[in-house]
Amino acid sequence: MEAEGVFKRTGALNKPPRPLLSAIQNLKARHYQHESEVEIHLKKIWENSYMAKRYRFPGANNDVLYESSYVHESGNACDHCDRSRVVRRKHDREADKPGIHYGNIASGNGVMKDGNMRDRVAQKEDVLCFEMEAAGLMDSFPCVVIRGVCDYADSHKNKSWQPYAAATAACYCKELLGVIEPHALYGLETASQPAARYECIPFPRNMKFVGRTRKLEMLERALFTERTSQRMAIVGLGGVGKTQVALTFAHSVIDTHPDVSVLWIPAMSADAFEEGCTEIARVLGIRLVGNLDVKVAVRQYLSARESGRWLIFVDNADDPGLLFGTAGKPGLLSYLPKGSEGIIVYTTRNRHIAQSLARNDVVDIPNMDVVEGQTCCGWRWPMILWVTT
Ligand SMILES: Nc1ncnc2c1ncn2[C@@H]1O[C@H](COP(=O)(O)OP(=O)(O)O)[C@@H](O)[C@H]1O
Ligand SMILES: [Mg+2]
Repeated sequence: MEAEGVFKRTGALNKPPRPLLSAIQNLKARHYQHESEVEIHLKKIWENSYMAKRYRFPGANNDVLYESSYVHESGNACDHCDRSRVVRRKHDREADKPGIHYGNIASGNGVMKDGNMRDRVAQKEDVLCFEMEAAGLMDSFPCVVIRGVCDYADSHKNKSWQPYAAATAACYCKELLGVIEPHALYGLETASQPAARYECIPFPRNMKFVGRTRKLEMLERALFTERTSQRMAIVGLGGVGKTQVALTFAHSVIDTHPDVSVLWIPAMSADAFEEGCTEIARVLGIRLVGNLDVKVAVRQYLSARESGRWLIFVDNADDPGLLFGTAGKPGLLSYLPKGSEGIIVYTTRNRHIAQSLARNDVVDIPNMDVVEGQTCCGWRWPMILWVTT
């Protein structure tokens, strides 16, 4: 809803998940033959006298619809409104039987209080009712929205139908829950379920690791503290300690960022990469359907927004042909997931690869200097070899 009460469509929400849609279809079909259970459940509520007082049916006489163009006069109720502007409807509502309508709900940032605008939007956007909460919910987890409609979205709003409408929506929800197959919901994300956190690191922490403090700080700062990068490469000669830096950093992320999944894929060969993905799929609980490639399955899983934050180490990314692919053969890099919450750290001996994967976000690992190296090798002082011939 814009400043002058103009309605502007900003987007469509996620669709409700399929198991809920098919349960609703089943319920609809059932209602062709049997009466809805909503009334039965409402009567149950009214057996409790306290609840009956609060959630009772307000009475058909209080269901008043004014002409769209007729604006409310004053006060909370419509005592001063002109009864001659009430729309005479063919069928007065049948005592206390709520109607169930299926269709689109307009979810906006403001209350709809204008009969003319309501009609225009309803017609143009094909919506049944207006509300303000569903947009926030629906995009954060899969659900279906059940609204109890309690007014006509015009200036004659009053709250007298609200408790009854809420009760009818709850009763419909109860009936719907009765037809949902529990196994159909397996795997659906729930409202309170944060993305799970996984660890898949093939090596334990190296208790003898020393030094490289500034390199580890660089990684932490760029990837987490300042978040200036999501792709980094650790580069240096063979045996210089790249894997050890990556491994130590992996374990420190596990310790300090409990919301981040930390995963490891060796890229020294296609087989090693495949094995790494198979292990990740096992840890993540991915079930392979048909002959789906495990690498594709892992990529799909982690690319989904619901997987939360992750950090993948791609170790030994040294062979350009293997990484970028050759004619007719996709490179291993094409199997890495994408996602706004994902970070990848490569280790490589090849500076060109480092730069093409991480541009300037390259952490150089030089040979250990004497001060770092002396403790690494277990000596307190630099080792001096004296060779006599
Ligand atoms: N910072 C370090 N602290 C202790 N040992 C280290 C360190 N860096 C490297 N090493 C030792 O050197 C070996 C080779 O390091 P690695 O990380 O595998 O090299 P790269 O991955 O660069 O080829 C390791 O197995 C480990 O024994
Ligand atoms: Mg290595």
